[in-house]
Amino acid sequence: MFYTDDTIEEVRSRNDVVDLIGNYIKLTKKGSSYFGLCPFHNEKSPSFSVSRDKQMYYCFGCGAGGNVFTFIMEYENYTFMEAVKYLAERAGIKLPETEMTEEAKKIQGKRQRLLDIHKLAARYFYYQLKGKEGANARSYFEGRRLEGATITHFGLGFSNPYRDDLYQFLRSKGYEDDILKESGLVSIDEKYGAHDKFWNRVMFPIMDVNNKVIGFGGRVLGEGTPKYLNSPETLLFDKSRNLYGLNFARTSRKSYFIICEGYMDVIAMHQAGFNNAVASLGTAFTLQHANLLKRYTEEVLLAYDSDEAGVKAALRAIPMLRSAGLRIKIIHMDPYKDPDEFIKNLGVEAFQERIDQAENSFMFEISILERSFDMADPDGKTRFFNAVAKRLLEFDQELERNNYIEALARKYGISFENLQKLVNRYGLAMPEKVNTYEAKEKPAIHQKSDPDYPEAVLASQKLLLTWLVNDVSLFKKIRPWISWEDFVHPVYSSVCRAVYESIESTGQIVPGQIINLFQEKEEQNLVAGIFNSDISGIEDKNAKEKALTETILRIKRFHLDEMSRHIKDLGELQKIIHMKSDLQNLHISL
Ligand code: UTP
Ligand code: MN
Repeated sequence: MFYTDDTIEEVRSRNDVVDLIGNYIKLTKKGSSYFGLCPFHNEKSPSFSVSRDKQMYYCFGCGAGGNVFTFIMEYENYTFMEAVKYLAERAGIKLPETEMTEEAKKIQGKRQRLLDIHKLAARYFYYQLKGKEGANARSYFEGRRLEGATITHFGLGFSNPYRDDLYQFLRSKGYEDDILKESGLVSIDEKYGAHDKFWNRVMFPIMDVNNKVIGFGGRVLGEGTPKYLNSPETLLFDKSRNLYGLNFARTSRKSYFIICEGYMDVIAMHQAGFNNAVASLGTAFTLQHANLLKRYTEEVLLAYDSDEAGVKAALRAIPMLRSAGLRIKIIHMDPYKDPDEFIKNLGVEAFQERIDQAENSFMFEISILERSFDMADPDGKTRFFNAVAKRLLEFDQELERNNYIEALARKYGISFENLQKLVNRYGLAMPEKVNTYEAKEKPAIHQKSDPDYPEAVLASQKLLLTWLVNDVSLFKKIRPWISWEDFVHPVYSSVCRAVYESIESTGQIVPGQIINLFQEKEEQNLVAGIFNSDISGIEDKNAKEKALTETILRIKRFHLDEMSRHIKDLGELQKIIHMKSDLQNLHISL
């Protein structure tokens, strides 16, 4: 982490959680909390609560919870550092300069100047499109059925036919040849002087995830080669780390992304409401692209061109997407070439149908494989099934493999048993490997029947912490009996310790601050849950005293029982017996 805990704490405390979240969703006050519809799962009645006192949110429906940082990270798909920067800016806090070497500072300065140049260029192209010279470009876009709002949304533009128009404009803004050369937008020839890279093309600004223009694609108006011209790689523009449309798609809040081949596909898709579409930029799809996508989604649908090149590109991309851990499906666009043409001809609903019918990527791969065998010939058919059997060995898990065997057997007219036998011949008696991807999917803390941590005990621990947070004066009653070591679950124990230390040093607790101690999302949600157990209904003093006493007893007794199971010597045993007898007389009075 680059910032000190103090800085991060300042950023957190200067962004009120209710104000912040209120900007994103409609909140209504109910008691001491605010409620709204949870942005992290679909629901009809509000179970998403935001508390000003606790400076945190928690969804009683899906268990999402956290503080201002986690909210922004989840909602905007930001990293922690991005969230800190965003919230610092929002609160008008100037973050301290992180320690940078001279070299790093120089690069940072240059990056900024290149960003400024790209911003100016994008505005210039946009202005050209709207101006007198832009008539042809405007009618080109019109012919492709782009609406005015779409053109503005994507910041589309036009580079006019003069050879050094943009160059002169940028010079007039004070930029020197050296930096202009490095922007990739102009080239400077010793003999012929400067000329623009893009001229007489409609322009597609390429934005990074933070909506900053980092390059351009330019298309000829009509026929001509090259059809698309793209910015070269520069300090700003790394083709394999950016996807066209990702800046919009990442906030689409859809459960999957759609990957298409080109700029126009992405734009047509967004215009039609499929704002989760992205495309790789005039370059083949890479493993970095796949990993980039994995930051934002679990599932991707490929909408590549239906021609041979598109199929080839899909076959290349699938293994990369798979190795990034994404689920993959294929959208079929026949009889049209690409999403743009499909939507233009058959409309939005028909495309949605194709999305719903998208094909499993393995089944797609096999159907392509089939093409290279003559299925009418017994020999061809045999070789095909042998090839299929080998491919089926990719699945380590027997159930998954059998499901595919079943689907393929049905599709290609072979019996399940025969295909299974064939598979077993290639990978006879393979031990079933533990599927790491699946193991990762189940955070242990969500397992209800975790034998180490009985639900009742966890519930008591939660209850105690919620009480404490709601009424710090209980601390002096609880502290003599319960230490954080009594909290058997590591996350609970850390939370308890943080709560105690906070009360001891400041006399108060801000749960939103404690959440920062945890890095994993599952842990953050768990912590938010800990501070949000239901304590309603225990209003009167007697009931509260009784409940508190029982809660302390349950936590303490469970821990003592645990200890007695692991005692090393008699002394320890005596200590435990002592403590147990102390508990006999425990009665908390308020
Ligand atoms: P396509 O030729 O399929 O173009 O190239 P398209 O997206 O359907 O374009 P329109 O509909 O005719 O306008 C797919 C993608 O490949 C890259 C571009 O990113 C393009 O969107 N490409 C293609 C180039 O970079 N250069 C080219 O000359 C052609
Ligand atoms: Mn097209």
